[in-house]
Amino acid sequence: MYRTHHCNELRKSDIGSNAMLAGWVHVRRDHGGVIFIDLRDREGLTQIVFRPEENAELAAQAHHLRHEDVVQVEGKVAARIPGTENPKLPTGDIELVPDQLTILNRADVLPFPIDTETPNEDLRLSYRYVDLRRPQMTRNLRIRHKVTKATRDFLDEKGFVEIETPILSKSTPEGARDFLIPSRMIKGKFYALPQAPQQYKQLLMVGGIEKYFQIAKCFRDEDLRSDRQPEFTQIDIEASFVTPDDIFALVEGMLAAVFRAGRGVEIPTPFPRMTYAQAMDEFGSDKPDRRLGMRLTDLGEIFRESSFKMFRGALDAGGAVKAINARAFASLTIGQSDELTEMAKHYGAKGLAFIKVENGEWKSPIVKFFSEAEKEALRSRLLVEEGDLILFAADKWEIVCEVLGRIRSRIAEMQQLTAGSEQLDFLWITDFPLLAFDAAENKWNAVHHPFTRPKAEDLAKLEAGEFGQIRAEAYDVVLNGVELGGGSIRIHEPDLQTKVFAALGVSEEDQQSLFGHILRAFRLGAPPHGGIAFGLDRIVMMICGEESIREVMAFPKNNRGLDLMSQSPSEVDQRQLRELGLKLAEEKKL
Ligand code: AMO
Ligand code: AMP
Repeated sequence: MYRTHHCNELRKSDIGSNAMLAGWVHVRRDHGGVIFIDLRDREGLTQIVFRPEENAELAAQAHHLRHEDVVQVEGKVAARIPGTENPKLPTGDIELVPDQLTILNRADVLPFPIDTETPNEDLRLSYRYVDLRRPQMTRNLRIRHKVTKATRDFLDEKGFVEIETPILSKSTPEGARDFLIPSRMIKGKFYALPQAPQQYKQLLMVGGIEKYFQIAKCFRDEDLRSDRQPEFTQIDIEASFVTPDDIFALVEGMLAAVFRAGRGVEIPTPFPRMTYAQAMDEFGSDKPDRRLGMRLTDLGEIFRESSFKMFRGALDAGGAVKAINARAFASLTIGQSDELTEMAKHYGAKGLAFIKVENGEWKSPIVKFFSEAEKEALRSRLLVEEGDLILFAADKWEIVCEVLGRIRSRIAEMQQLTAGSEQLDFLWITDFPLLAFDAAENKWNAVHHPFTRPKAEDLAKLEAGEFGQIRAEAYDVVLNGVELGGGSIRIHEPDLQTKVFAALGVSEEDQQSLFGHILRAFRLGAPPHGGIAFGLDRIVMMICGEESIREVMAFPKNNRGLDLMSQSPSEVDQRQLRELGLKLAEEKKL
């Protein structure tokens, strides 16, 4: 037997009894020969005290203990000397006075201390097993477990069946780049790792499963960010004979259960809904963080007849003039305003105009062009007050929205508007466009994926070739400006699917070779169906209050896609390549 209790279990009521504990040496303190150990396991800390006058031999042994040695101790639970209790520790009233100490394993000097925050993430990831001992990481992984369990319990309760789908699957152009796996048995052919189980879950609906879910590993070879990993986990859901409202109600119930289990909070449902068009118009983003305020205010009416050329010109050309009011931010520095201007240009604006309201004065190079009536209208539309900063963009509607949306987020970061906020602002974004034109590739792409259903009202626009005008039966869940999940009602008719493929520029030949299986399935009795997928990592990140999904994954890749601990990706030997029928184009010089 290694232990009778864990390290966060002994209390006053245990004083006088015997106990055996096992764990890691978290801290060792030497108070003039008396050795104090904080013994740690995943539950917490217990103080162990070795007094030379009681047991000289043990105290001498304890003197040599080092951080992270793994030990077992057995002894008597005692009250701490009055005045030395630690009210911050649940075990702070007691200490263990051992009569036995067994060193189970010694630890070398650690690459970094685990009881303080270490800023170097690459070092943490190289020794992730040490990093995971930090209480914060243990907590995050245990919350992740709770979230996964709550998800499974909830969906099981609703009659959903968890079904695994293949990891070795087929490459289809679905958004990101695929990870490819060469086949040894059929040389020259490749599997692809699934970017999502999208087609399989639709085929399960054709297979009569009706209610499917999966905690599914997904793989995407794309640029990494704090909320993106090459390998991540989805809560993937699909159901037959459902409307968007059915999906919304299911998901709201699921997220309520998950946030209850993971964070102990009740989230208000149903979530408010906003169309994509409204989100872009008012927030300049399809994942707006409404906590920030600073809505985009349309100034078209005010400046329609203006003599200020910059605004008038944009409006005459069919564009827009909008502004945001960054409250109490007239104090921004020149460096900050330069950064915002650069950002505006990066996203396609010709410039960014500012007004600082300081000492009752509107400070700006553009104010002199405004009439008194225009100024008065601005004041009342934007509720301008002393200390405010007003930012304007004038351009095509799309550019104005995107630019001010980005500026708005950046200003919120500069002002730390959400620091310490506990608010959880859930939101549905609906009615996404079905297709978006990619000017670089000169073709239409699916905004969600090619299996997404156009809205019934917009089907005629598909026929008419007005591709930019078609809205999709697609929806996202947004929490505090983070896209948690997205889904859609699917196409289940082969003819409609063929039309959408055609709009996407997929040739008839490619339709057969890439998607023949799904088109065939649609001819053999496919029910109407739809679904959604959530980034499990992102949900857990939000619940834990972390800034990056790497903090809630046991073994993530770093921001360059490397596993620093096991050093992958790595080279393979020639024999392996030969077996796969592969040859590297450029032999690396050794
Ligand atoms: P989508 O591509 O929107 O939809 O993905 C769903 C959710 O998965 C999460 N996610 C990621 N998380 C971490 N790292 C990544 N690289 C990453 N990419 C996506 C996001 C996102 O909202 N098959 C469809 C869903 C459907 O239509 O049912 C799909 O995969 O939280
Ligand atoms: P200018 O008269 O070109 O020096 O511009 C005056 C201010 O307006 C500068 O701060 C520019 O960055 C800004 N500006 C220029 N074009 C636009 C635009 N399309 N929308 C908003 N601000 C702009």
